[in-house]
Amino acid sequence: MNIDNIKQAEIWCADAFDKIKDIPDHSVDVILTDPPYNLAGYSRGNIKMSWRADFNNDLADWDRDIFTPADWVAEFTRILKPTGNLFAFTSYNLLGAWHQAFDPVFDTFQFMVWHKTNPAPKLRKAGFLNSCELIVCAWNKGHVWNFGKQNEMHNFIETPICMGKERTKDPKHPTQKPVRVLEHILKIGSNEGDLVLDPFMGVGSTGVAALNLDRRFLGFDKDAAYVEAARTRLKEVSGQPMLPLDAPAVRVGAGETDKCGTAAHSLQ
Ligand SMILES: C[S@@+](CC[C@H](N)C(=O)[O-])C[C@H]1O[C@@H](n2cnc3c(N)ncnc32)[C@H](O)[C@@H]1O
Repeated sequence: MNIDNIKQAEIWCADAFDKIKDIPDHSVDVILTDPPYNLAGYSRGNIKMSWRADFNNDLADWDRDIFTPADWVAEFTRILKPTGNLFAFTSYNLLGAWHQAFDPVFDTFQFMVWHKTNPAPKLRKAGFLNSCELIVCAWNKGHVWNFGKQNEMHNFIETPICMGKERTKDPKHPTQKPVRVLEHILKIGSNEGDLVLDPFMGVGSTGVAALNLDRRFLGFDKDAAYVEAARTRLKEVSGQPMLPLDAPAVRVGAGETDKCGTAAHSLQ
């Protein structure tokens, strides 16, 4: 993979575990990602409603494969620049595993909280609403850090969940992140022109935030429908067509296709 050829964005329909191996050493400025949460085992499925359609309480199929943070330490540290930052959304059950794997290899390990002002209701009123998500943050000394005013730098951000026009309809992604949250993180942890990687990009929300802020983006997802939605969104943000990588005009990764059978795409 020729990172220097990414002028705006490049996305691949691929298994991140394989594709990340194509990224050169110390070439990525920020990893901002949202991998699976291992929550599927806790779900009791959709809730039956007598007066309306079932209430969606189930998790996506992609969350049924076990995600192990320790499996990603070697590749994340290999591809990140020494000044790079890692941000990863996670859930309560995996926070310890992230800490155990990443705290020993980074100088600093912290976390942020994203508070959702309109989380899904708890219909049975048993337990708290799931109104918070955690974001693991890790870096080494000398990392890029655009510190704002003290009161802007709480490890807490509050926004509604992704809604309205921002939310992709076909396909719907059950955990699409609001661009506002991602932009907040990228403003703090990267500079214009930096390369942002999201190896679990879903419908490309990190890519939209990156392009909005004049960062460059590299994204993977193993689901072809999500990759197609990401392609549409990135094209809209840039106002330019997103060309297949095997198009002669682009000459990046010529001839390469991925497991999903969908060509990778590039915005030049
Ligand atoms: C939590 S979602 C990310 C959602 C994303 N932040 C968004 O706003 O659309 C995790 C994504 O990881 C993808 N995924 C899971 N395992 C993967 C793997 N091994 N390689 C690539 N993508 C994977 C899933 O298809 C899913 O879209």
